[in-house]
Amino acid sequence: MAALHPCNGTVTTQNPEPEPQPITPSELRSEFSHHDPTIARINNGSFGCCPATIIAAQQRQQLLFLRQPDDFYFNTLKPSILQTRRLIQTLINADQVDEVSIVDNATTAAAVVLQHSTWSFFSSVFQAGDAVVMLHYAYGAVKKSVQAYISRAGGHVIEVHLPFPIKSSSEIIYEFEKALQRGKANGRKIRLAVIDHITSMPSVLIPVKELVRMCRDEGVDRIFIDGAHAIGNVEIDVKDIGADLYTSNLHKWLFCPPSAAFLYCKISNELLDLHHPVVSHEYGNGLAMESAWTGTRDYSAQLVLPEVLEFVSRFEGGIEGIMRRNHKAVVEMAQMLAEAWGTELGAPPEMCSSMAMVGMPACLGIKSDSDALKLRKHLRERFKVEVPIYYRMPVEGEVDSMTGYARISHQVYNVVEDYYRFRDAVNKLVKEGFTCAVLSD
Ligand SMILES: Cc1ncc(COP(=O)(O)O)c(C=O)c1O
Repeated sequence: MAALHPCNGTVTTQNPEPEPQPITPSELRSEFSHHDPTIARINNGSFGCCPATIIAAQQRQQLLFLRQPDDFYFNTLKPSILQTRRLIQTLINADQVDEVSIVDNATTAAAVVLQHSTWSFFSSVFQAGDAVVMLHYAYGAVKKSVQAYISRAGGHVIEVHLPFPIKSSSEIIYEFEKALQRGKANGRKIRLAVIDHITSMPSVLIPVKELVRMCRDEGVDRIFIDGAHAIGNVEIDVKDIGADLYTSNLHKWLFCPPSAAFLYCKISNELLDLHHPVVSHEYGNGLAMESAWTGTRDYSAQLVLPEVLEFVSRFEGGIEGIMRRNHKAVVEMAQMLAEAWGTELGAPPEMCSSMAMVGMPACLGIKSDSDALKLRKHLRERFKVEVPIYYRMPVEGEVDSMTGYARISHQVYNVVEDYYRFRDAVNKLVKEGFTCAVLSD
């Protein structure tokens, strides 16, 4: 990623800004002092985090609006959103700012993309039975959107089942190829591929570039990457990935307050005629404009990216340094836990991002999604550990295998004690002879 001027998004060598002051350990603690100090928070994945400096910047934006709303609306809001779009353009290596729209979250971005497909069915550009391909591990809300916008409109959905635990990305490539061939063998046109960059649960880094290339070779019309967890977590170069559409949340791993996300759409696809699902005055003026005003509401979360870039520049290596260290730390912690519990990681280190899946001892008796949820609650309430748990259905013939995996994460606020607390909690449960069967709903 290029070095950015945080205030205007340009890359400049003239009149350089004063060097940012490296953040000290006590400043770092104070940036996250609003976090509940009793909780070992090893779930950055669900809701991200927002440092105090950024919360203050957001409040300044909110007050600017409340102080003189008309002036803010007529003179400030549009240029500020444009500035955010410019910064994102540079961060993701998009060609043009018009390719970038700011929306609330990845769920909204998915609605924009899938609604476009609905209209293609209604206007007979797509025929009943044309297919959409997505991973079986696609995010639940996105799957519901596919149901609402594609299945209801007469589309066929092909789900690509992936093995888990997984040993290498070639297993994903193999399964994806098989699914595309299956779709084509049935004579279906595959109109859209929805591919996660980092799946949510179980969390695995997907070889998106390879899958995009395969979709192109197989004649899939459009490719949408759901990178909800990606920006600030792994590198995004939209030109290199080569998809038509790409979304990522800014509030998960890029320190923005909830909620803000970008949706990239390659300019050569401008005929895509994308629209925001909430229609307001800007309807017909292009997705970026439509998204920049969806009615009166709080837009402040979309306006603090300059301050976020200033914040990350205070860390060694900036956002790339943060990503690198988070990845290294989460893999180390996952290996430490797996060793302590006699289990294994769900994916090799190179398929982990700043999140990793760690197998939990089989004796805990995690036998359903409901058990996984109850165990998560138990860990929160009894041990003050916040961590999502995944239930993996055993394949036929498996006995006493790992059916539970914890999705741990690492972000700049984490300390090694967070993971020790989790390790010790699970060891205690094992020692007590605990099983999920004793937990009530
Ligand atoms: C892969 C994936 N897609 C989409 C989403 C939806 O994100 P949001 O709730 O911010 O819209 C998530 C949320 O965790 C996710 O993991």
